[in-house]
Amino acid sequence: MAKIIAFSNQKGGVGKTTTCINLAACLASDGYKVLVVDLDPQGNASSGLGFSDRKSEKSSYSVLCGSMNANDAVVDTDIPTLKLMPSCMDLAGAELEMAQVVIAREKILSEKISEASDNFDFIFLDCPPSLGLLTVNALTASDGIIVPIQCEYYALEGVTQMMNTVMLVKKYLNPKLEVEGVVLTLYDSRANLSQQVSEEIKKYFCEKVFKTIIPRNVRLAEAPSFGKPVILYDKHCLGSKAYTDLKNEFLNRVNNK
Ligand SMILES: Nc1ncnc2c1ncn2[C@@H]1O[C@H](COP(=O)(O)OP(=O)(O)O)[C@@H](O)[C@H]1O
Ligand SMILES: [Mg+2]
Repeated sequence: MAKIIAFSNQKGGVGKTTTCINLAACLASDGYKVLVVDLDPQGNASSGLGFSDRKSEKSSYSVLCGSMNANDAVVDTDIPTLKLMPSCMDLAGAELEMAQVVIAREKILSEKISEASDNFDFIFLDCPPSLGLLTVNALTASDGIIVPIQCEYYALEGVTQMMNTVMLVKKYLNPKLEVEGVVLTLYDSRANLSQQVSEEIKKYFCEKVFKTIIPRNVRLAEAPSFGKPVILYDKHCLGSKAYTDLKNEFLNRVNNK
């Protein structure tokens, strides 16, 4: 059975998608079977993995709001063991459609993703920047959550609200949900501010914070426009090294449980 992880933070632009696709790519290049599920209507995980058909029939939308089996909604990527369930334009209306469901609408994804669970070691859910029904579905389907936090002022703003949602999902919908880890992203070693903010985040999350810090690195920002994870775009850049380190730390954590 796959370990299912949601990449979530209701703030946009904090590195959720970058962390989701690059950690997935690093694991897959080690031979792990990984599925990235793009739950953001903006579709950045899909385009970042080289998939650009916004009208695709195969999509997380078809699984959540249609009758498509999760296994049929999966497409290949440049890495053989890395698969993608793409986003599509229609996903923008999914929250409204799911809100019409009367019984157990928070558990739709959890039910559907279990169809694919045996085919993967890890399933990564890339969440939209909100705490709506898509994110609640992701949290309800997950074993753990990884929270990317950008090292800037107000980094913790909103995080407490999100942790409250996590607590409620754990209490009422998914008792196994845990914070798997917190990743500090977009770190600028030249800025004192980054250091101060990372200290503050460590005070709040303690040992949950991964030791690996993701630096601000232009290669990480460029790679998605080529539809590639950073390790395929520039294997030796700082971004590739950081996500490879994070992959090792993540595996250590997962295997020591
Ligand atoms: N470590 C990094 N260094 C440089 N650019 C980054 C880094 N992480 C993310 N970015 C860029 O910042 C923007 C927001 O990142 P993204 O992962 O899409 O955030 P989110 O999914 O939380 O909205 C994107 O353009 C992305 O390419
Ligand atoms: Mg994103």
